[in-house]
This record gives sequence, C-alpha cells and structure tokens, in this order.
Amino acid sequence: MLGRLNHVALAVPDLAAAAETYRATLGARVTAPQALPEHGVTVVFIELPNTKIELLEPLGDDSPIAAFLAKNPSGGMHHVCYEVDDILAARDHLKATGARVLGDGEPKIGAHGKPVLFLHPKDFMGTLVELEQVRAR
Ligand code: CO
Repeated sequence: MLGRLNHVALAVPDLAAAAETYRATLGARVTAPQALPEHGVTVVFIELPNTKIELLEPLGDDSPIAAFLAKNPSGGMHHVCYEVDDILAARDHLKATGARVLGDGEPKIGAHGKPVLFLHPKDFMGTLVELEQVRAR
C-alpha cells in the first residue's frame, strides 16, 4: 500500500531561523515561505535529492500545530507523509484493520494540492502519519 516517502514535516517556532539553518548550516535548497491560511501554517520546503523536509510554522490563532509546539517549544518532528496510489482504498483498508483515520475520514486537499488523510499517532508508534495520493486516478 505504501509508496515513496513524500516528506517529513518539522514543526518550528521560527520559520525564518529554521530555513536559514537548513540553507546556511546544512547547505540545503530551501523554497520561499508559503502561507497556507486554510491549513493554519506557513511552510517552507527543503528540497533533497530523494525527498522533502517540510518546515511548518503556526499561522493564525487555531493552528493545528500550536499544541505540538506548546509541548515541544524548540520544535520537533511533526509527521511523516507516505505516498499511496489510491487514497480511498488505503483508507478503507486502514479502517478495516481498526486504525483510526483523523477527522471525518474524507481526504482533504493538502499543502501540495493533493488529497491527504492523517492517521492517529497512537496506532503508529507515536508518529502522526499523513497519506497523500500524488497521482490523479
Ligand atoms: Co505534510
């Protein structure tokens, strides 16, 4: 069911500082910040040869990453995103195995303009998992 690792997302308290650390200290290619008000985050992508790192900074008062940063003030790994060929088939399989799909179980359009779902961290070794259907079906 799982395809490629699409990205690892890090929640950060200061996006400009984090992007500069990746650019200057680690020598990575870093995209310009992109505000995504509908997701409650501003995002920067670190483009690596085989995957991406997504840096997330809260945007607005009810950001979905605010509670995470309250618990992890210096930032930390927020989620991993795996690609799937068919997100509805993946969801149905996961539900049938008893895994918890967050929200109403319907895919939402994610930060890359593709349908995504999130899976409960308690079912996946304490890690929030995002599934993304990269190609249209
Ligand atoms: Co993500």
